[in-house]
Amino acid sequence: MLVLGIESSCDETGIALYHSEQGLLGHALHSQIKMHAEYGGVVPELASRDHIRRALPLTEQVLKQSGAKLDDIEAIAYTQGPGLAGALLVGTSIAESLAFALNLPTVGVHHLEGHLLSPLLEENPPPFPFVALLVSGGHTQIMRVGGIGDYELLGDTLDDAAGEAFDKTAKLLDLPYPGGPAISRLAEQGRPGHFKLPRPMINSGDLNFSFSGLKTAVLTLAMQHQPLTEQIKADIANAFQAAAVDVLATKCMNALKQTKLKRLVVSGGVGANKQLRSALNQAAERRGYEVFYPRLEFCTDNGAMIAFAGAMRLKHAQPGNHAFSVRPRWDL
Ligand code: KG4
Ligand code: ZN
Repeated sequence: MLVLGIESSCDETGIALYHSEQGLLGHALHSQIKMHAEYGGVVPELASRDHIRRALPLTEQVLKQSGAKLDDIEAIAYTQGPGLAGALLVGTSIAESLAFALNLPTVGVHHLEGHLLSPLLEENPPPFPFVALLVSGGHTQIMRVGGIGDYELLGDTLDDAAGEAFDKTAKLLDLPYPGGPAISRLAEQGRPGHFKLPRPMINSGDLNFSFSGLKTAVLTLAMQHQPLTEQIKADIANAFQAAAVDVLATKCMNALKQTKLKRLVVSGGVGANKQLRSALNQAAERRGYEVFYPRLEFCTDNGAMIAFAGAMRLKHAQPGNHAFSVRPRWDL
């Protein structure tokens, strides 16, 4: 079955075609990062308007790339939530109108399920069950994944998400949005161990996280070293990244130990972080665990993960009356 996937929950318009037997046939993405950069973060109204401009041209591009015709599409999957309400409404209304015109079933996908399953698009997909670390701008969760739809939440952040902490630390250091990649680049110039920041909740005995204290510690450190030189900024970025990575990697190892599972799947924007990948790979290798990641371009938001999750969920696809709603807040 050929599924069109539409992602529009935040600042990326992602379109993809996934075939349940042939795999991913094509995908395209338009990132709004440049447009939002001058505001230091995503402006919801601008995001919605840009999704409107991009979604159909990108769909045509993906059809062309895949050698498929509009009539070949057999179902449409779209991100129903969580995310920005206006942005979600764009993808949802386009999906439902196309489905109405082509008489196709639709499936509303949970954005986090998309992220969670994205490593399954790769050549060597991890078999179930596995532990998943979902680490993005809005979420930091550890889950036990038994199969499609079988998700047990083992740990969550009590305050900020890890990506949010990267973004806020970047702002404090006057780095461009999005902060994650900027911090990661700057940290490479930093002197490891020059500053030491706290590892919040690392010994809490559970699998929960807290990142707001780390952000405050960064603020205090920055205040103590005014005016910030480029070297000090890089040292702070290095110390922040080391602390965040240490907490994330430690909790993942604890989760594997606790569940007695041997496979870890990492997804979401922060999963692109080099330092995090290297810490996880090293810790896992020492303990005989395997770690799986989506390719870098599928760590952040994309249409492929939505088309894929939609294909996995097709038995729930509704021919329906094409009435629709979005779910800006939605637990997995
Ligand atoms: O998954 P995603 O594209 O969107 C959400 O659903 O949130 O994740 C975006 C987040 C942002 O906070 C961004 O700063 C962070 O992922 N991020 C990174 C890196 N690339 C993106 N954080 C650390 N290191 C990176 N290389
Ligand atoms: Zn996302």
